[in-house]
Amino acid sequence: MIENTSITITIDGPSSSGKSTVGEKLAHNIGYNFLDTGCLYRALTVATLQRNIPITDTDTIIKLAGDIDIVVKPSTVEDGRQYTVLIDKVDVTWELRSSSTDTNVSLISTIPDVRHLLTEQMRSIAKGANVVMVGRDIGTVVVPEAPLKFYLDASIDERARRRHNENMRNGQESDYKEILVNLQARDDIDTQRDNAPLKKPTNAYIINTTTMKPKNVLKEMLRIFHTVI
Ligand code: DC
Repeated sequence: MIENTSITITIDGPSSSGKSTVGEKLAHNIGYNFLDTGCLYRALTVATLQRNIPITDTDTIIKLAGDIDIVVKPSTVEDGRQYTVLIDKVDVTWELRSSSTDTNVSLISTIPDVRHLLTEQMRSIAKGANVVMVGRDIGTVVVPEAPLKFYLDASIDERARRRHNENMRNGQESDYKEILVNLQARDDIDTQRDNAPLKKPTNAYIINTTTMKPKNVLKEMLRIFHTVI
C-alpha cells in the first residue's frame, strides 16, 4: 500500500476573518496548493439559484450536488479573482460572490448529504498534494489529522468593513449595514448547525486578525509553519 505523505495545513474561521487572503499567500510562500473550500458550497448555491430550485428543496439540491461537475483551478483571467471556478465547464467565479449567493450559501451548507459529498471531494484533493485548505470544518472534520491547524478570527464590525471594501474594489454594489446583518446571520447558521459546525479545533493556533495587517498575519503563520513542519 502506498502511504499518503501529502501535508494539509488547515485554516478555519468565520467569514471575512482573512482566511483566504492569507491562506493563498501562505500557500504561495511555502509552495503548497491552495483550496478555499467555501467556493464548493458557493458553486452549488449558484447552480441551485440558476435552476430556480427552492432553497428548501433539499432532495433536489442533494441530487444536483451529485450531478454537477465543480472544478476549482488557478485563476484564468486577470480581473482580481483568486481562482477560477467552473460548473460543468462554465465560468461562475464572480457569481460565487453575488449577494444572493451570500444570502443562501450557509443554509445549503447545513444539508448533511451535501456536506458528505463535498467533504469527500476535499479529502481527495488533500490526498493528492500538499495543500493549504481554508474553510469552517477543515481542522475538525475534513482533515482532523492535519499536522498544522490555524483558526483565524476578527470582530464582526471589522469583517463587515473588509467585505464592504472588497465589494467596492470589485465595482460591486455594497451596503455596509446589510453586510453586517448578513454576516451575523451566517455566523449563527455556521456555528449552530448540527453537522460540522464552525468551531476552534482543539490543537489549532488561534490568531485574532482584527487589528492586524494581512502581511503580519502571514508573518506569524510562516513563523509557526517553520517551527512545526
Ligand atoms: O468561506 P465562505 O464565506 O466562502 O463560505 C461560504 C459558506 O460555506 C459559509 O457560510 C459556510 C460554508 N462552508 C462550510 O460550511 N464549510 C466549509 N468547509 C467551507 C464553507
